[in-house]
Amino acid sequence: MDVIIINLILSGKMSKNNSKRVSNNFSPTGYSEKVMDHFMHPRNLGSLKDPDVIGMVGNPVCGDTMVLSLKVGKNSQKQDYIKQIAFETLGCGAAIATSSIITEMAMGKTLEEAWQISDTDVAGELGGLPPVKMHCSNLAASALKQAIEKYYAKNSQKNDNITKNYI
Ligand code: FES
Repeated sequence: MDVIIINLILSGKMSKNNSKRVSNNFSPTGYSEKVMDHFMHPRNLGSLKDPDVIGMVGNPVCGDTMVLSLKVGKNSQKQDYIKQIAFETLGCGAAIATSSIITEMAMGKTLEEAWQISDTDVAGELGGLPPVKMHCSNLAASALKQAIEKYYAKNSQKNDNITKNYI
């Protein structure tokens, strides 16, 4: 149902007023306005030139895939932090919305702080997701964790607060 409605909006067969009414009622898509906003206007979409690290995860059940690229800098306390972040996602509307919002949530955070972002944090930041779409938030959180873990491994850094924990 959600794909059909989104296609109608994109094709101009449904007016924005109608689409707004649908999201305000959380029915029939079940998506919040924030989900629809991030799906229709994704932030930090694309890939970075010369990224420091890339995280890539896929969901073997639905086949959706997310690639997250990061540039890492040092803040004034000499901690590694996310200086730039971008994503490319092949997947459903919820996967695109969760990918988009996790880039906003992670930007500027230290790697340790960003690594703490969970799938439930992502869904909560979007105002919730329908239960059948909760797994989509896992894709975004897992890609971010994987990228951070790979960054530490690549730079031969050990951080006891970061453990391998991605799909
Ligand atoms: S349906 Fe697979 S991530 Fe959304």
